[in-house]
Amino acid sequence: MDHALRLALLLLLFAKVYPSSSAYEFEHCKNTVKQWASSSLHSNIKDGHILKDLLFFLHVPRTGGRTYFYCFLKKLYSSSLECPRSYDKLRFDPRKQNCRLLATHDDYSIMSKLPRERTSVVTILRNPIDRVFSAYEFSIEVAARFLIHPNLTSATKMSGNLRSKNGVISTLDIWPWKYLVPWMREELFAKRDARKRKGPPYAYGDDSYNMEEIATPLHEFINHPVTLDLVHNGATFQIAGLTNNSNTWKVHEVRHCVMSYQSLGKYVVEVAKKRLDDMLYVGLTEDHKQSATMFANFVGAQVISQLAASNPGTETVNYNKSEQGSVFSKAGSSTSHDQGNNTSMVKEQTENMTVGKLMETYETCVSKLRSTQSKRRITSLKRIFPANFTKEARKHVPEAVLKQIILLNSLDVELYKHAHIIFERQHQAMEKKLLHSAMSVMNGKNYIPSAWEFVYLFVFIFLAFFIFLYVNAKRRILKLKI
Ligand SMILES: *[C@@H]1O[C@H](CO)[C@@H](O)[C@H](O)[C@H]1NC(C)=O
Ligand SMILES: *[C@@H]1O[C@H](CO)[C@@H](O)[C@H](O)[C@H]1NC(C)=O
Ligand SMILES: *[C@@H]1O[C@H](CO)[C@@H](O)[C@H](O)[C@H]1NC(C)=O
Ligand SMILES: *[C@@H]1O[C@H](CO)[C@@H](O)[C@H](O)[C@H]1NC(C)=O
Ligand SMILES: *[C@@H]1O[C@H](CO)[C@@H](O)[C@H](O)[C@H]1NC(C)=O
Ligand SMILES: *[C@@H]1O[C@H](CO)[C@@H](O)[C@H](O)[C@H]1NC(C)=O
Ligand SMILES: *[C@@H]1O[C@H](CO)[C@@H](O)[C@H](O)[C@H]1NC(C)=O
Repeated sequence: MDHALRLALLLLLFAKVYPSSSAYEFEHCKNTVKQWASSSLHSNIKDGHILKDLLFFLHVPRTGGRTYFYCFLKKLYSSSLECPRSYDKLRFDPRKQNCRLLATHDDYSIMSKLPRERTSVVTILRNPIDRVFSAYEFSIEVAARFLIHPNLTSATKMSGNLRSKNGVISTLDIWPWKYLVPWMREELFAKRDARKRKGPPYAYGDDSYNMEEIATPLHEFINHPVTLDLVHNGATFQIAGLTNNSNTWKVHEVRHCVMSYQSLGKYVVEVAKKRLDDMLYVGLTEDHKQSATMFANFVGAQVISQLAASNPGTETVNYNKSEQGSVFSKAGSSTSHDQGNNTSMVKEQTENMTVGKLMETYETCVSKLRSTQSKRRITSLKRIFPANFTKEARKHVPEAVLKQIILLNSLDVELYKHAHIIFERQHQAMEKKLLHSAMSVMNGKNYIPSAWEFVYLFVFIFLAFFIFLYVNAKRRILKLKI
């Protein structure tokens, strides 16, 4: 055989083998993913709606989870009950055996390291488009803080020094920001240097999300492989336990398959949905007021009674809602500092706490936190003037970009719809619970209500019913503007 013929044969062979090997690859992936999905779906969680010993707050980035952490959870759990440096550290440290609260950007795969049957999970979801916008804006906002430095070298060195001081946890240590912020930072500096070299006039245009000469445009950001790795469908991957930050090596193969073959995404959403169903609580960033009220009534109430029960020095919880909590409004003023961890503190923190007081504390705390955050944001964004990320500025973003975000986040869109259904269900359960407790107060033990009290009761039920109908109708109208 001469060489040419041999080569031709070889090529033919390749051409025959190649498609079938990729088909084989797909079959292999499909099996891997299906196997993972079925083992994930079969992990039965009993009594999902009762608080277990450990509360795991699965914090999806840019869903507003910080306010729940600082203004609810930190008001309930003293630092001594928090799992070590859990909020920002990425790996669970099992040395502290009796911790009660774990709040991280870790994904669900960390459950394999936790006592699963003694762990309750809560999370908050957000409209995927807004979450992508927020991730973009936040990455640039944090990166822009470094523009006070003359050049990238000195900025990087500075942040390195800051981080090596013990105890300081910077945004740059936290997944996914530890990838997104340095990337955006590099771009901001490069663009600033280029502007200096070129000099005016600049052609910024009027779309803050597309100012090539200042920052990475949004359309570039959403199409970048890093964003695909870290942001798109992020909620689904985090709840499925398949982020690139996952805790076990096994899931990385599953992740690789899912990223390679879009059609396998449906298995991932199914797992994520089931996990949401089994959670103690699911909140929605958009429905903030309702979400917070539900959190206080479902999670807060259970944490209060659990901690009271485990604190021998403390009496049973007092659900007296008419009391004013001066002690806790004071506690609410310190937003992020730890309260120390000695037992008298633990006691003080939960003693006399009621759902009503918790809500009150929360509102004070949230408004403080928000005002601090917004000041910080404005200061930081000044450095990239004239770009400014406002509601007004978003209107300039072309429809095509929004459509693309939806396409790139199809799993999250589906999961978010499911979260709405769960939210509705939780809402109804809460109405029922409140109505029930109102009625049992009225009925009392061996207590015969007077005619007036009957009238009050009926008026109350009547009103509650109408409020319920109204809120439901309103939500139906507001629902899913995707
Ligand atoms: C960056 O800035 C620092 C501090 O002003 C300076 O010492 C250093 O030479 C600069 N580096 C470069 C590469 O310009
Ligand atoms: C996660 O994603 C980032 C950004 O794409 C990448 O730099 C990093 O290496 C990834 N980590 C793993 C464990 O794959
Ligand atoms: C509830 O609070 C009111 C006002 O502070 C008080 O008069 C009442 O005795 C309290 N009830 C209980 C059961 O603690
Ligand atoms: C615990 O905190 C209380 C109240 O702040 C304080 O009086 C007490 O000295 C502290 N105890 C220890 C051991 O730190
Ligand atoms: C907090 O608890 C740890 C161990 O649980 C202990 O080593 C430390 O001294 C405590 N700190 C305070 C202020 O009580
Ligand atoms: C809780 O209430 C009791 C009785 O009303 C009071 O003596 C105690 O000081 C209160 N504790 C706190 C921390 O407010
Ligand atoms: C950006 O917009 C916010 C809100 O409209 C405004 O308060 C802020 O001053 C603006 N920043 C700049 C640099 O114009």
